Parts: sequence; structure tokens; C-alpha cells
Amino acid sequence: MKVLVATAKPFAPVAIEGLKKVLDNAGYELVLLEKYTEKAELLSAVADVDALIVRSDKVDAEVFDAAKNLKIVVRAGAGYDNIDLAAATAHNVVAMNTPGQNANAVAELVIGLLIFAVRNFYNGKSGSELMGKKLGILAFGNVGRSVARIAKGLGMEVYAYDAFCPAEVITSAGVTPVASRDALFETCDIVSLHIPATPDTVKSINADVVGKLRKGGILINTARKEVIDEQSLISLLTQREDLKYITDIMPDANAEFMAFEGRFFSTPKKMGAQTAEANINAGVAAANQIVGFLRDGITKFQVN
Ligand code: 3PG
Repeated sequence: MKVLVATAKPFAPVAIEGLKKVLDNAGYELVLLEKYTEKAELLSAVADVDALIVRSDKVDAEVFDAAKNLKIVVRAGAGYDNIDLAAATAHNVVAMNTPGQNANAVAELVIGLLIFAVRNFYNGKSGSELMGKKLGILAFGNVGRSVARIAKGLGMEVYAYDAFCPAEVITSAGVTPVASRDALFETCDIVSLHIPATPDTVKSINADVVGKLRKGGILINTARKEVIDEQSLISLLTQREDLKYITDIMPDANAEFMAFEGRFFSTPKKMGAQTAEANINAGVAAANQIVGFLRDGITKFQVN
């Protein structure tokens, strides 16, 4: 069996070593396509492979058409909005993700970015502390739970809203559940987004919602840029000079956001899952899931 790892943003080499061991033990061949820039490179690399591991790389109908032997694609990560699930199903390909494997890495970045934000991007002026501040977590999945765990250690008051997670689960993590998304923004000094990009969430974070933040509020986004209504948020930041927007996913309208000096920051590349540990966890999990499926028919974590 041939397994292609196609990552425009590569894993740490140590993660490749780890996933290669899993594939070697199963007698599978590893093919690497890293740092590719043209879709044509991906189309030609998938031509004869049985399995595919990707990160945020787009896997659409054209890729499935080109991958005649493909049986499984694993998104080494949580969000699988980059995979056309209908096309996968139509081509008889199983699609999976590796939930939770990079959650701690993303959560640590949230906290790092928040400290950077409340200390005024380290510009030398007096800032503020996270201890005692109210942190709202929108969607209490693996990343949201990890953020809550670390934030509690910092002495923050942590609140969460998740339309799909029972309040008791939130409470049992020592976090205060709130009744709605709007209530989360009304209650908190900082809101951290952990929602996936779905037809329901795309452009759902707009001026009406974010405008509910208390004075001096911060919106932090390590989820997906698609969930933000960028033009609406730009008009809010224009009206509310007390608000900050911090993101790990550079907005389409980055140049316009850059005008909010001292109130906007974006990492140049999506860095949340970019740690050796997260790469090892997600990469090795993806390889194990491929072997589990191809050898034993295990479909845990299938998303289509
Ligand atoms: C995820 O959905 O797992 C994260 O957004 C990480 O994405 P990446 O693998 O492209 O860094």
C-alpha cells in the first residue's frame, strides 16, 4: 500500500519519522509531497496512492478524480472543512480526522497570544493581566477544553457556550456554562473562538455579536477565518476603539485590519498546530488510522 503525505505546510521531521515507523511496520510505502505550491503537484502525486494524509490542504472532487486507487484520506488535525466529503463519498473514499491530537498546541497559542494582547503587544506601555478576567469559550470541544484548563490555572474566570455540548459537561470541567452565544459575549472580557467552519457558522461572528463584548474586550480566533464577517468586524473596530481582534488565521482583508494599530494582530501563518508534539500526535494518529482501516476495516473517526 502506498501512503502519500501531502502537506503544503510540512510536519516537523520528527513527526515524519514517527509516522514512517507506523507505515514501515505495516509494510506500507510512504510518499512525501511537502511545501508544494501548485495543485498540479498534488494531482500528479495522488495518481497511484491508496491513502492520503493532509493538513489544511484542499482535497476536492478534482483531487478525488485524479486519485484512482484512493481508499482513505485522513486530515491530520481537527477541522475537515478542507475536504469535500460529498466527493469523497461519491468516490468511495473514507474521510477521517484526528480529533484532539493538536488541541493542546492550539490552546497554548491562545494563551500566548492573549498575554501578548493584554501587554499591548509588548510595546512598553502598561498593560493588564489575565488573572481575574472573564474568558468566554465558544464551542467546548477538545481545543476549548484545553484552553479552559490552562486559563483556570492562570486564575481566569472561565465561561463556555456550546450548542452541542450539554451544560453538565461544561460544569464538570469547572467551567460556567452560559445559555447562548450572545450571553457569552455579554458576560466576558475575552472570547476565544473554537467553532468549526460549517454552513451555519460561516460569517456568523459579526459586529452585532462581537459588539456585545464589555469595554476593552478582546476577540481571539484560532479556529477559521471563514467564521468571521470581516467587513462587519472592521466597521465595529472603527466604532469601538476599545476592542482588539487577535487571530491565528490571516484575514482576507488583512490590509484593512492592519490599520487598527495596537488593536489587531495576526500570525503570518496559521501556527496553532505547529509544534513538534502536535505534529507527532496528529501525524502518527493519521498513520495508525490508515493502517487500522486498510488492514482491519476500523472506521473510528470517519466523518463522511
Ligand atoms: C486543525 O483543524 O486541526 C487546525 O486548524 C490545524 O490546522 P493545520 O494542520 O493546517 O495547522
